[in-house]
Formats: sequence, C-alpha cells, structure tokens
Amino acid sequence: MAIIIKSEREIGLIRESCRMLEKVHDELSKIIRPGISTLEIDKTGEELIRSFGGVPNFLHYNGYPASICVSVNEEVVHGIPKKDRILKEGDIVSLDAGMMLKGYHSDAARTYAVGKVTPEVGCLIEATKQSFFEGIRYAKEGYHLFDISNAIAGYIKPFGYGIVRDLTGHGVGTELHEDPPVPNFRQLTRGPKLRRGMTLAIEPMINLGTWKVRWLDDDWTVVSADGSYSAHYENTVLITDGEPEILTLSGGL
Ligand code: MF3
Ligand code: CO
Repeated sequence: MAIIIKSEREIGLIRESCRMLEKVHDELSKIIRPGISTLEIDKTGEELIRSFGGVPNFLHYNGYPASICVSVNEEVVHGIPKKDRILKEGDIVSLDAGMMLKGYHSDAARTYAVGKVTPEVGCLIEATKQSFFEGIRYAKEGYHLFDISNAIAGYIKPFGYGIVRDLTGHGVGTELHEDPPVPNFRQLTRGPKLRRGMTLAIEPMINLGTWKVRWLDDDWTVVSADGSYSAHYENTVLITDGEPEILTLSGGL
C-alpha cells in the first residue's frame, strides 16, 4: 500500500477543490425540505459544482448515474437520485458530494433531518458527526491511521449503534479513491504511520441497528440489513504535524 504524500502545490489545489465543495454543501443544505425530490437535489448539486468551475467526479464513476449520492432513511450510501423519490417530514437524508477542480478531487458528506425527526434519529445524526471529530483528534503526524478508526469506534460503542464495515474512508488526490482505506470499526493493530501531506476522506457510516448492510438490485444503493436508519458524515482532511486541517469545513462546525 502506497500512501501518497502531497506537495505544497498539490495541497493548495486540493484545498481549493475542497473549499468549493464546502460551498456546494452549504447551498444544498438550504434546499432540504419536505416535498423536494432526490433528483432535484442532484440537479442543483451538479449545477453548483459546475458553477464553481468543477466537474462532478461521481457522475459516471464506475457507471454511477448521478453527481450527488442521495441516501434516504435506511439507505446508507450511494442512493441514486430519482424524480419520484420525494422527501417527507421525519425522513433523514445523506448527501454525499464530490468534485474535481484543476485535476484534484474533494469528497464530503452530510446527513440532514427533514423537518422534525424522532429524538432517537436526531441522536444518530449527531453521534455520527461527533464520531468524525473524535476520530480526527488522532489525524496528526505521530499517530497511526487506525488510531482514527479506533477513536471513532470507541465513541460509537456506548450508543450500541452498528458501524458499517463494508465501506471505508480513503485517500483523496488526483484520484477520488486512493490508498489507504480508512475503516471506522475497531482495528487490532495501529496501521500505517500518519505523515504530514496525507489527504484522507474520513467518513463514518453508522446504523441505528445492525452494522450489516446489503445492496439493492440497482447494484449501487447500500441499505442497512435490518432497515434501520443510517447516517453518514464525511470530510476531506489534511494531515499536518499539528492540528488536522478539515479541508471541506473551513468555516467551522
Ligand atoms: N463519496 C463516495 C465515497 O466516499 C464515493 C461515491 S462514488 C459514486 O467513497 F460513484 F457512488 F458516486
Ligand atoms: Co468518500
């Protein structure tokens, strides 16, 4: 496994791509409401990406047919946007978006409540987001990759939620998915050493019920095996010798 260390020039370009992607997410957050279709979210996202000079990197990736992965309720990730999938009060929706700008990728995901959701589901969304922040306490030179994984898993454990194991985070750069895989569940070793200049997408996917997932017949949509709600939170992060730089979250939390 070769983990690419980015040069200052490359870091600058990834940072730019990530800043623009953050703006895409900020704009998309404003249109989430009961009555909107998942296809409208995708179309708006694609327009935003292009308006910032980027290219939607998910579109046609291994044949994926859209620019934004829109996953509702028990859908974990890679939901395919549809005209007739309409969000309703009480749903939760995960938007996973990526773009390529000047040859460099960015990748980030957010989960939103649509109107009012049950306290149980609200807690799932919050804990999933918080697990990312627990993980990145170790996203620094001097720690090891799986320190991040174990911090995420350790934070989630007392909630009794299922941590998805079939999908992981990953390196990001001139490719959307680079080495190393970044698991969110407990690891028995500490894994490779983290070094400044690594750029990683860290993305916990957490289910209210079982950790087990299955794929729908569309061969894309990943759903929780027991139909329980699932949340996803992701940012592209730069490893430094100090605090990590959350490249897709410049404006704070
Ligand atoms: N954002 C996803 C990830 O983090 C990748 C989506 S690829 C697509 O790995 F083809 F499904 F869009
Ligand atoms: Co990702």
